[in-house]
Amino acid sequence: MRHIDIKTAPPGPKARKVVEETQATLSPSIDRFYPLVVESAHGSLVKDVDGNTYVDLNSGLGVLGVGSTPERVVKAVARQSGRFMHYSYTDFYYGNIARLARKLSAITPGRFEKRVYFGNSGTEAVEAAIKLSRYRSGRQRILAFTGAFHGRTMGAVSLTASKPRQMKGFSPLLPGVTHVPYPYCYRCPFGQTYPECGYFCVDYISDQVLDKYVPADEVSSIFFEPIQGEGGYVVPPPDYFRRLQKLAKGHGIMLVDDEIQSGMGRTGRWFAIEHFGVVPDMVLVAKALASGLPLSALVAGKETMSWGPGSHASTFGANPVAAEAALATIGTIEDEGLLARARRTGGRLMKRLLEMKEKYEIVGDVRGKGLMVGMEIVKDKKGKESGVKEMLGIVDYSWRHGALVISCGKSTIRFFPPLNIPQDALDEAIDVVEEGVRLQSR
Ligand SMILES: Cc1ncc(COP(=O)(O)O)c(C=O)c1O
Repeated sequence: MRHIDIKTAPPGPKARKVVEETQATLSPSIDRFYPLVVESAHGSLVKDVDGNTYVDLNSGLGVLGVGSTPERVVKAVARQSGRFMHYSYTDFYYGNIARLARKLSAITPGRFEKRVYFGNSGTEAVEAAIKLSRYRSGRQRILAFTGAFHGRTMGAVSLTASKPRQMKGFSPLLPGVTHVPYPYCYRCPFGQTYPECGYFCVDYISDQVLDKYVPADEVSSIFFEPIQGEGGYVVPPPDYFRRLQKLAKGHGIMLVDDEIQSGMGRTGRWFAIEHFGVVPDMVLVAKALASGLPLSALVAGKETMSWGPGSHASTFGANPVAAEAALATIGTIEDEGLLARARRTGGRLMKRLLEMKEKYEIVGDVRGKGLMVGMEIVKDKKGKESGVKEMLGIVDYSWRHGALVISCGKSTIRFFPPLNIPQDALDEAIDVVEEGVRLQSR
């Protein structure tokens, strides 16, 4: 049975009307990939207002890890909504957030006693971690990476370094933030080649940054994504984070692991940093945590989360309905074996994309872990010039023919479908993307 069903060339008449109304009423600061107007979504399928059905290869921007409207989450939300929807946790108590905190403490890396701070969005988890970094260490400075995306609030955007338009017009940003090059081996910022480079990028931080102009004893923390998301689905080489941690520990600097996109099973492990054998000081979770309800978490060791009463809070953080959604999401991942499934399906996805790399001159690089995989489009393999026009052509072709992919970095197409996407739906959508690649290759 086919999953994709395009009855009216999108955007159809109803979709165009919604787009028009949106443009006339909403903030123009939002930049969308294409005019998909959603009517309903179930599992890995999305229906638009004109009756077309698409396969979801982006999980609603990484949020729908267990698919759209998963039954167990929907039931949990309905049950909790009937009991109470809010009773500010900043001033009072209820039980399910403590249960959720225990669960998050158990699944995040490190077997030690932890504490959890809950907010509403990824950027709020990042803000909380910036404040806690300073509070805990008494140090002001932070290191982050070029290509990073950590969010849009003033603190988080100060750590972001993915696209100039994200910070243009907002300076001055948070002082004391220094960006260092991310280990993007396909386009090494130092022009080196792995493994002959001997992890020059880590030595650069110690020899050129900390030894020359950023006093190490003023640095509280290094914020990083274990696999860069918005920056281009960039996977560091295997020993990178172990070396980074050794360097950080030597100076009493904390590692803050932003798993907002890569966490909650996306890479076939609960958190992407597990692939690198490193236990960070803080872990940030959001997006897929509550299957679409707003919830984020900062998880840290009990000693690290040293701030006192009144130092940080949020009225809507730890919403009880979102907490139930998160408990049901985690339960679904556990009971349905979705970590193993993401590894299996991810293996098949990787194989298909690597075959495309063999076949088409414009597929320059394929990289990722589990169901977080990027395909970088270039003009040609040798020159590696970014194939921006070609990438845009593929993304446009794909959605018009029923496969919802989006891009990241300069010209990378990202594949991050729900962890439980049926294999035949994934195959069907990849066939569509491949046709888009073939057409752009001519
Ligand atoms: C790695 C990472 N950190 C932080 C954020 C910000 O999250 P939010 O949009 O929920 O504020 C994002 C969002 O895409 C992200 O991918």
